[in-house]
Amino acid sequence: ADGLHAPVYPWDHKKNLATFDHAAIRRGYQVYKEVCAACHSLDRIAWRNLIGVSHTEAEVKAMAEEHEYTDGPNDVGDMFERPGKPSDYMPRPYANEEQARAGNMGAYPPDLSLMIKARHGGADYVFSLLTGYQDPPAGVEIREGLNFNPYFPGGAIGMARVLYDGLLEYEDGTPATTSQMAKDVTIFLSWAAEPEMDERKKMGMKALTMLAVLTGLSVYLKRHKWAGIK
Ligand code: HEM
Repeated sequence: ADGLHAPVYPWDHKKNLATFDHAAIRRGYQVYKEVCAACHSLDRIAWRNLIGVSHTEAEVKAMAEEHEYTDGPNDVGDMFERPGKPSDYMPRPYANEEQARAGNMGAYPPDLSLMIKARHGGADYVFSLLTGYQDPPAGVEIREGLNFNPYFPGGAIGMARVLYDGLLEYEDGTPATTSQMAKDVTIFLSWAAEPEMDERKKMGMKALTMLAVLTGLSVYLKRHKWAGIK
């Protein structure tokens, strides 16, 4: 069975001329890092992608350096460990799929880079999934290790509820309610799936402005040139 269809929420960044809420991306990164990153990779995002989006260059350098990366081979052919650099990609929680499944009772936590684009309902689905955990209706048996969530196709998901009011402390003082964290991490993942969106909208705005100016100019010139003839 398909999951319950997610309600359509009025995401600001989906409006024609609106860019992403960058404070929300920053909070959403915090949720990803402190909660989701324990199980989910984010393979398509490098540390440098956060620069000027949610963090400063100095912050990103420091964040990357907290992680060790395997590099090499060096002059003598050995691999070695070094602190991360902004050009490195976000570290993965598991070495491979086998390990990931072993840590999650057989279920595989998918990479979240393109999740917003991959699933029907996109941002609405992910937000609904994160906030939709509830007791199964009377008569519905959920197998050991699975959790009832009406938005997940089939209704039984291998991921438990992870967001609870007050789970973390936002550095900007925003109250970390379940729905606030779900909203912020969904906006962060929407950005991750489409990091070029802001730039695309700005270019579109410039193109429309140019088009309007040129249209105005050509209407004026046409009237001017034809004025004596008509
Ligand atoms: C699946 C998001 C935290 C384990 C998923 C899916 C999404 C998601 C969107 C895909 C559902 C689908 O296939 O349609 C998130 C977010 C998290 C988070 C945004 C943080 C707020 C976690 C954590 C764990 C986890 C901490 C492990 C303790 C899993 C597993 C699945 C999954 C095992 C696969 C479930 C299945 O196929 O039955 N998650 N997740 N997730 N997640 Fe998470």
